[in-house]
Amino acid sequence: MVVLGIESTAHTASVGVVAENAEVLGLASDMYRPPAGGIHPREAANHHVELFPALVERALSSAKVSPREIEAVAFAQGPGLGPCLRTGATVARTLSLLWNRPLVPVNHCVAHIEIARVLSGLDDPVLLYASGGNTQVIAHGSGRYRVLGETLDVGIGNFLDKLWISLGGQFPGGPAIERAALEGVDLLPLPYSVHGMDVAFSGMLTASQVLHSRGASRENLAYSVEVTAYSMLTEITERALAHRKKEAVVLGGGVACNERLRTMVRAMAESRGHTSFAPPKSLCVDNGAMIAWTGLLAWRAGVRIPVAESGVLPRQRTDLVDTPWRSG
Ligand code: ATP
Ligand code: FE2
Repeated sequence: MVVLGIESTAHTASVGVVAENAEVLGLASDMYRPPAGGIHPREAANHHVELFPALVERALSSAKVSPREIEAVAFAQGPGLGPCLRTGATVARTLSLLWNRPLVPVNHCVAHIEIARVLSGLDDPVLLYASGGNTQVIAHGSGRYRVLGETLDVGIGNFLDKLWISLGGQFPGGPAIERAALEGVDLLPLPYSVHGMDVAFSGMLTASQVLHSRGASRENLAYSVEVTAYSMLTEITERALAHRKKEAVVLGGGVACNERLRTMVRAMAESRGHTSFAPPKSLCVDNGAMIAWTGLLAWRAGVRIPVAESGVLPRQRTDLVDTPWRSG
């Protein structure tokens, strides 16, 4: 079984071709990088429109697969930026009609989770999904992924991006902050905002900007923000493990590329005698392979959608999606 997946929820246009056991046969991606400031949805969508034809060709040719061998076309139906989602949905509908193959809708957040879970080989872990727009601690139960805790304001990646741009840097901020943090030496006091199972970042954003205006270096700020924010995520993940009596953590989403976050979560898990896993970085950030893999799981479980009903869902939450491919 071979499935093609289309990702276009935000900054990245990507096409993946995936077979059984999440074997990634082909993956072609291109990220929109705004010349300055944050992402403008329409400009990102224009980027995707231009890039998709070549990305589909590249993914198929690197997979050495012809369109005839593709058995279903999956696409990220939501959540995300409306104009960006619509470009990917249009490409997916076109391919589905052209090749006469079923169209399979996929939730982008569930896709981050499923690709991380299959690569981990762990059946039922707690999941820490940390990305641009989302920050959630998740466990599966009663047919869906349940959000045990999450950000009360912005996603951690959006917070890092916004902070870095306001310090004079460029999008994406997360990897740049990771590099700058390696040069930081002083741990500056920042708000540590954990509310039960939830977290918040806007106080830390304001406090960092105030410290910078008073002369704090970008390196010390980057270091302090990483230590504080990733400690908050590690704390709520540990609480989820304890309450849910789970023995493993799997990380997913773009911020799961971060070495400090990976190390902190691993140290916490190991101190409890548990394990932790994070996928290779190319599969943590937005990519078409995670959409294709989740589409394969969903399609095998009977999920498909008529073109006429395949409108995008910019606000579709993780816990609104049934997971008929999972037991329990
Ligand atoms: P969502 O899944 O919520 O829709 P997204 O689709 O915008 O988010 P992802 O590709 O999953 O995006 O994640 C992108 C985010 O990951 C960006 O905010 C980026 O700064 C952050 N990021 C990428 N690499 C790193 C890193 N090494 N350290 C910290 N953050 C990182
Ligand atoms: Fe994402």
